[in-house]
Amino acid sequence: TERTLSIIKPDATNRNLTGKINAKFEEAGLRIIAQKRIHLTKAQAGKFYEVHAERPFYDELCEFMASAPVVAQVLEGEGAIAKNREVMGATNPADAAAGTIRAEFAQSVGENSVHGSDAPETAAAEIAFFFSGLELVG
Ligand code: GTP
Ligand code: MG
Repeated sequence: TERTLSIIKPDATNRNLTGKINAKFEEAGLRIIAQKRIHLTKAQAGKFYEVHAERPFYDELCEFMASAPVVAQVLEGEGAIAKNREVMGATNPADAAAGTIRAEFAQSVGENSVHGSDAPETAAAEIAFFFSGLELVG
């Protein structure tokens, strides 16, 4: 089985939506095998999103991710990376399919409620960013 890193973003934790979002993951057959609530510093958010450093929205993104607590989690299941991205929906909630997390909860292309790893290599690196091996309880 595959593992992926998920983050419930500040817009969602602010609106008390972590349970509703976790229900979407579980309904899709993804198991939450690690989870922690953490308030990132802007520097930590910047490190996590380093791949986007040259994008015009990078500073805004890092400010946002450090603006309130997030819930970092590891989801496990068959094809977890793709399945999670399917449940999340398109980056821009205006383009997200009905029933997806972003269609139901996201507020804008930036404040879009969740993050999910996009490939096996990024999933491994992103999981290691937040969790030690001991914290992954599959
Ligand atoms: P992630 O799972 O968060 O990586 O989403 P993604 O893969 O669908 O989007 P992408 O990697 O292209 O962008 C990463 C994050 O940057 C997005 O989830 C948004 O929060 C933010 N972002 C992307 N495009 C924009 C934009 O045009 N404006 C702003 N403010 N933020 C953006
Ligand atoms: Mg991405």
